[in-house]
Amino acid sequence: MTDVLDTVRDHYRATGLTERLKAALAVFGPEDQRLTPELLATLDQFHTRGLAATAELAKLAGVTSGMSVLDVGSGVGGPARYLAATCGCQVTGVDLSAPFVDAARYLTGRTGQGAQVSFKTASALELPFDAGRFDTVLLQHVAMNISDRPRLYREIRRVLKQGGRFATYDVVLGSGKTLDGVHYPAPWARTPATSFLLTVEATREAVEAAGFRTLVWQDDSTAAKAWAAQLRAAPPASPNLGVVMGPDFAQLGGNLARNILEDRVAILSAVFEASPINA
Ligand SMILES: C[S@@+](CC[C@H](N)C(=O)[O-])C[C@H]1O[C@@H](n2cnc3c(N)ncnc32)[C@H](O)[C@@H]1O
Repeated sequence: MTDVLDTVRDHYRATGLTERLKAALAVFGPEDQRLTPELLATLDQFHTRGLAATAELAKLAGVTSGMSVLDVGSGVGGPARYLAATCGCQVTGVDLSAPFVDAARYLTGRTGQGAQVSFKTASALELPFDAGRFDTVLLQHVAMNISDRPRLYREIRRVLKQGGRFATYDVVLGSGKTLDGVHYPAPWARTPATSFLLTVEATREAVEAAGFRTLVWQDDSTAAKAWAAQLRAAPPASPNLGVVMGPDFAQLGGNLARNILEDRVAILSAVFEASPINA
């Protein structure tokens, strides 16, 4: 398992990321210029459909002011900053990649949200929090990097309050498709060695078995296809996730678009309620 985590960490190693971000953000003005989560969205929302998807998931999950939210696999922190700014909640992000966590802290300094949003380097399989600490847990485009789904969903259930919400936005295996049919390199894995896509049915089964009741179950593939077609027609505005993932990002994004348009993967939004432990 450590080997797999190390390989996933390597995929998101992003050497010199904070310095690259500083240079890329110079287009928005000097270092002391306050930035907004919306302005950063082309480079800090690391998932299909970007900011629109985060906004929809927050609404589906019912995130409101005063809640304590955990973003698991928080990347460079775009979803956490957006949620804090629009819902008025406190957000903690955890991510396996230390350079991503450094970058998330830097960007949060640039948006002036340090009192509301914080980040830790940690594995989703060993969350550094007491049981029952959060009202809501978010997981966006992370599960496909994790083979031990029972443990992932059990950890998420452990840190949630009873009755709390778990909102996930996930890449899953397209119906009737096989793992062999997925095009790589993809944004979440350059080879199949760190890609652990499940079908929609297997995803739901694994989450419910960890102590959750399904509230929302939504196939977002149609909207994802429109987004993928647009991505093919025109490259994303600059600065974009190429700053985070490096020069092969156009190829990674191109393969994501192909996988979505050819139904090799599907895009799923779901919200679950935390059942009583041992229920
Ligand atoms: C595609 S990015 C999504 C980032 C963020 N959720 C977003 O939507 O902007 C996947 C993220 O999951 C993180 N990740 C992968 N496996 C992880 C694990 N076992 N524990 C914590 N983070 C993990 C990666 O480091 C990366 O930041």
